[in-house]
Amino acid sequence: MKHQIIRYARAGHAGLFLCTAEETRAEAIVKAATEELQRPLHAWSATEGFIDTQLGTIQSCPDPGLALDQITDLQDDAVILLRDFGAFLDDKDPVLHRKLRDTLRNARTTGKLLILLGVWKPLAPELEREITRLDLALPGPAELDLVLNGIIESAGLSSHRDLTPALREAALAAAGGLTTLEAENAFALSLIESETISPAIVSREKAQALKKGGLLEVITTTESLDSIGGLDRLKAWLLQRREAFTKRARDYGLPVPKGMLVLGVPGTGKSLTAKATASVFGVPLLKLDAGRLFGGLVGQSEANVRSVIQTAEAISPCVLWIDEIEKGFGGVGSSGGSTDGGTSGRVFGTMLNWLQDKTAPVFVVATANDVSKLPPEMLRKGRWDELWFVDLPDTRERAAIWDLVIEKYGRDKTTFDTVVLARASELHTGAEIEAAFVEALHRGFVEEREPTELDLGEVLCESVPLATTMSESIERLRHWAKGRARHASAKETPSRRGRKLELG
Ligand SMILES: Nc1ncnc2c1ncn2[C@@H]1O[C@H](COP(=O)(O)OP(=O)(O)OP(=O)(O)O)[C@@H](O)[C@H]1O
Ligand SMILES: [Mg+2]
Repeated sequence: MKHQIIRYARAGHAGLFLCTAEETRAEAIVKAATEELQRPLHAWSATEGFIDTQLGTIQSCPDPGLALDQITDLQDDAVILLRDFGAFLDDKDPVLHRKLRDTLRNARTTGKLLILLGVWKPLAPELEREITRLDLALPGPAELDLVLNGIIESAGLSSHRDLTPALREAALAAAGGLTTLEAENAFALSLIESETISPAIVSREKAQALKKGGLLEVITTTESLDSIGGLDRLKAWLLQRREAFTKRARDYGLPVPKGMLVLGVPGTGKSLTAKATASVFGVPLLKLDAGRLFGGLVGQSEANVRSVIQTAEAISPCVLWIDEIEKGFGGVGSSGGSTDGGTSGRVFGTMLNWLQDKTAPVFVVATANDVSKLPPEMLRKGRWDELWFVDLPDTRERAAIWDLVIEKYGRDKTTFDTVVLARASELHTGAEIEAAFVEALHRGFVEEREPTELDLGEVLCESVPLATTMSESIERLRHWAKGRARHASAKETPSRRGRKLELG
């Protein structure tokens, strides 16, 4: 980032917007850049006024407009850091806008550089052309390493004696995705709780920090490919990629996998597959609440999507799971939402560009039930390594699911004829099979006995699978998927091909 600022300054840019919530870190970077450029640095904030960092003088100036007036009087080639200036541009004050444009024009001719610092606020189009936006990425391993050393030394420990290289690497990986301040807090807490740097405690703190943000959640899961019945093709495809994030794969010249979109019938194991993907790759699983991307405040959504991308990249390699993607991005066309001034369109565009161009090892797994709600750009194959369609399980798959479900609830699968159960549960999804087994357990429990095949038969007779009530929308999904998405199951069995869903 320092070098980027230096480059823009040398190229004669008059306005930069350095987007970050990490003010202290950003200021240190700007200071280092101006020192290297040998240019004087002035800083302004509404509370402190103007600070001349060389002379150490402070001059009160609470008004942003007056602050801009004063910039004109500063020496040529000065760099001026304006804290939270974006916030003042929020109310669309036309005079302040005008003043900023005048100041930028003056800055260009006198060689000054204005750096707006703070959380991103969308600028008026004419300002957006004059001010270059820079996003400060979260600290990488090298920066976190400095933080870690600082904490270890302040605790009176020796960073060589008390921390093995393996432990250090694990702790730094666990802290990826945190700001410097958050990392410092997590390391310090770990020292207090365990008298050492514990990657587990740092991970736990990170999970909490992310949760507080409300967009991303670190999911701990024990699901693996063995927890999924059927979906053999999808599973084989994932297994083939299990080492795709390793150095060996990079050396071989394999491109970093982008991710997959899993479409399908509700309750057929899409979320399950997303969870299992993380264990295939052996990386952390991050879940994005797409519905919450669209924050209430102006500009919030864009800040949200960028922060999600930054965090995922900082934690990478990882799996980013966007569950029910149609809830977040449904109804957004390339033209943008007409009711929100194009915000959702822009957010969506940022996300799509990232999906297409990202180089960080973030494997995105998006799941969806309803393609009709998704904009076509989202469904273009180039965005994903594969588009999968998950249909209702066929007889063989249902038998596999019965086996898994019976074992999941601590029963012996050999005491049930799962082939018979598979036939009896035609049109049922995995989720429904599980629900049927739980219902049978309840029946057995009240009568103080084990559930039997007879119970299961009764339960299945009484239950109406979703596929019968939703047959039309399932048919529509199948029709859409034909030729567009790959079937996640091994091969279409005759029973599936020949099956016509009956209504009612
Ligand atoms: N193929 C499967 N193999 C094993 N269990 C399954 C399978 N499909 C569903 N299940 C069971 O049903 C539960 C619900 O499945 P899951 O949440 O993955 O469905 P989904 O496709 O994400 O549904 P939705 O579209 O409603 O989100 C799983 O936790 C699992 O217990
Ligand atoms: Mg789901």
